[in-house]
Amino acid sequence: MKHRTLKDLKDIKGKRILVRVDFNVPVDEKGNVTEDSRIRKALPTIKHLLNQGAKLILMSHYGRPEGQILDDFRLNPAVSTLEKLLGKKIRKLDECTGEFVQKVVKEMKEGDVVLLENTRFHPGEEGNHPDFAKELASLGEIYVNDGFGVIHKAHASVSGITQHLPSYMGLLVENELKYLTHLMEEPKRPYTIVMGGAKIKDKIGLIKNLMKKADYILIGGGIANTFLAAQGFDVGQSLCEKDKIQVAQEILIAAEKLKVEIVLPSDVVVATLPSDNAVTMDIPIEDVEGDMKIFDIGSKTTEKYKKIISKSKTIFWNGPMGLYEYKPFGKGTKEVAEAIANNKGTTVIGGGDSVDALKRFKFDEKHFSHISTGGGASLSFLEGKELPGVKALIEK
Ligand code: 3PG
Repeated sequence: MKHRTLKDLKDIKGKRILVRVDFNVPVDEKGNVTEDSRIRKALPTIKHLLNQGAKLILMSHYGRPEGQILDDFRLNPAVSTLEKLLGKKIRKLDECTGEFVQKVVKEMKEGDVVLLENTRFHPGEEGNHPDFAKELASLGEIYVNDGFGVIHKAHASVSGITQHLPSYMGLLVENELKYLTHLMEEPKRPYTIVMGGAKIKDKIGLIKNLMKKADYILIGGGIANTFLAAQGFDVGQSLCEKDKIQVAQEILIAAEKLKVEIVLPSDVVVATLPSDNAVTMDIPIEDVEGDMKIFDIGSKTTEKYKKIISKSKTIFWNGPMGLYEYKPFGKGTKEVAEAIANNKGTTVIGGGDSVDALKRFKFDEKHFSHISTGGGASLSFLEGKELPGVKALIEK
């Protein structure tokens, strides 16, 4: 089964192309985009199509307005960032369907770019309603999906729309899938997963699936506490999902059978409260007790993780090692990120928190092989789930 890509898309001069992008980007109180990588990474597809004389109608969601028209969720903040990056004016509309939108798109000229309003203002978007998908489709002649961040959702502008138009995969989606597929199929060894973040419940599917592929899984963050509790350690008052201790035990047993080494912290940084001037201790895990809370991996664990990372040829990192937002608890995440950045193999970063941590510690795209623009989407893929947006592009 094959997806049609932009290579298959010819003779598009003067054609109206609907491009699904994911401009769901962080915005500050003043309405400025604070992290533009999703917009920047949509540029290759946008430029490719414009260079061939197409008329582009961009569609995106922003936030979760749940089918209501809410001013705080308008796509306006993306406009100036896109115009600056693209070096040309675009036209932003206040609706995504309707008579006025139809009129504007019919009057478009070659090289014009129109950005429709947040598709999630319409209840038919998340409901993948056929009428809404058809209405959107009626605006264009061809559909391109380049919104990797939302490709795991069966929404009208992602999936339903492909029923009505010849549909193609954009360059960003193609590139994302190339790196993520590499992690699942024949990764160079040793292959190491670095897994952190707050809750194990969000990562169970991911660990279970990647466990079949990896040589090492290095665990930090809140999820390490649940694994440590599963091994019988006292984790004091740390974040720990008691109802997931059994799953953690099962994962540890399965890992032994699969001969994948799940490495847990042997020492940890503890305090009683998270703050920038917390009094901390770096202690062996056996010494955690009472009202102590684990907020980072300890220095011996950090060294051990760095050593494993340095000898690895493929690395996937998802989730910070500790509460990196606070100065006393950022060392584990920073040093692990540094070790991954120094690795010359294939290094892939996925998940919103890891990306935010990288930004805080001044790492960017040039330090890694690939930073995914889709947190949920990349995790769904690596969990082995089917991505509705990709499935919809398969040639029928
Ligand atoms: C994301 O930010 O993960 C995507 O844009 C999808 O957004 P959602 O989680 O609100 O569906």
